[in-house]
Amino acid sequence: MKISIDIKKAQSILRQGGLVGIPTETVYGLGADACNAEAVSKIFSVKGRPSNHPLIVHIGNIEQLNQWAIEIPDVALKLAEKFWPGPLTMVLRRHPDVSDVVTGGLDTIAIRIPDHPLTLELLKKFGGGIAAPSANRYGRISPTSAEDVYEELGNQVDIVLDGGRCIVGIESTIIDCTTNKPVILRPGKITAQQISFLFKKEIPFSTSSSVQHPGNKLSHYAPDSEIRLVRREDIVNSIERARYEGKVVGLIATSFPHILPKDLIQIPIANGKEGMAHDLYHALRESDHLGVEVLVIVMPDEDGIGHALQDRLIRASRNNLYLKFRDIN
Ligand code: TXA
Ligand code: MG
Repeated sequence: MKISIDIKKAQSILRQGGLVGIPTETVYGLGADACNAEAVSKIFSVKGRPSNHPLIVHIGNIEQLNQWAIEIPDVALKLAEKFWPGPLTMVLRRHPDVSDVVTGGLDTIAIRIPDHPLTLELLKKFGGGIAAPSANRYGRISPTSAEDVYEELGNQVDIVLDGGRCIVGIESTIIDCTTNKPVILRPGKITAQQISFLFKKEIPFSTSSSVQHPGNKLSHYAPDSEIRLVRREDIVNSIERARYEGKVVGLIATSFPHILPKDLIQIPIANGKEGMAHDLYHALRESDHLGVEVLVIVMPDEDGIGHALQDRLIRASRNNLYLKFRDIN
């Protein structure tokens, strides 16, 4: 694999049916020509992802939308106009020409225009759609830098475009727009409040999960360490308990009170919830590198991007300690 900024090279690899790591504002994607079923099927084998889990198709401009989707409702056009390019993925009725490999055999398709200059330039030059899930092994943490893609997938990717660290840091909001009554399927940077404000009515979250998709699985985005989600006032207790259990303990936080034990592994993240989103996956990787066994993280409140953070943290903490967290809140 080559980490590079050679857009022309990336374009020719896509044309030849190869795999390209693409930077987006959310996380890095593992991209292939969405019209080349053989190329797209490589994505599944490289990630180890079940073939019935559909992919997002990334396009370069809104005019291309009707090559991928049909019966596009007005709400979708309104959302596209407001939030694209940006961290919002829309699920629409698929165009009959779209390959089953991309949609996992569903009659719908997920589409977005990502907001990253390198990938927008690549999409413009390439002219077609790029099918891309997050560029991590199935069930693992999404990559937020070109080096992370290399760490996850190594030489199975032909080239990774190096667009630096992802600005948002967690995956896009997914909204089902197959009807004029949109429903949010995955929380993300674009919040329910923002979308509800646009339509001047409350836009709900999906309660049922008719589509089997990885973002929907309870265990996902998981590091090797065991995550314990706590309230700020419980940090010290939680660390003491993990130390008593004989574990190597790490703490992800914005600042570190001096009363903490000296051998604690401290992993700093930026301030505020936007800062946490930006740094969270990077910090989870760091904790694995440092051999942390129990990772203590303060659960953010659910306002704004906090909802998406809570969603990712709960899935990342495989053993569902959050249920206990909820009991004590
Ligand atoms: O920010 C993002 O969305 C990143 C960047 C690379 O664009 N992509 C990403 O892809 O997170 P992935 O595959 O890791 O997650 C996409 C989610 C999956 O849970 C998938 O099942 C769901 O979108 N999805 C795709 N097509 C769908 C469809 N037709 N209906 C419902 N969900 C769908
Ligand atoms: Mg993913």
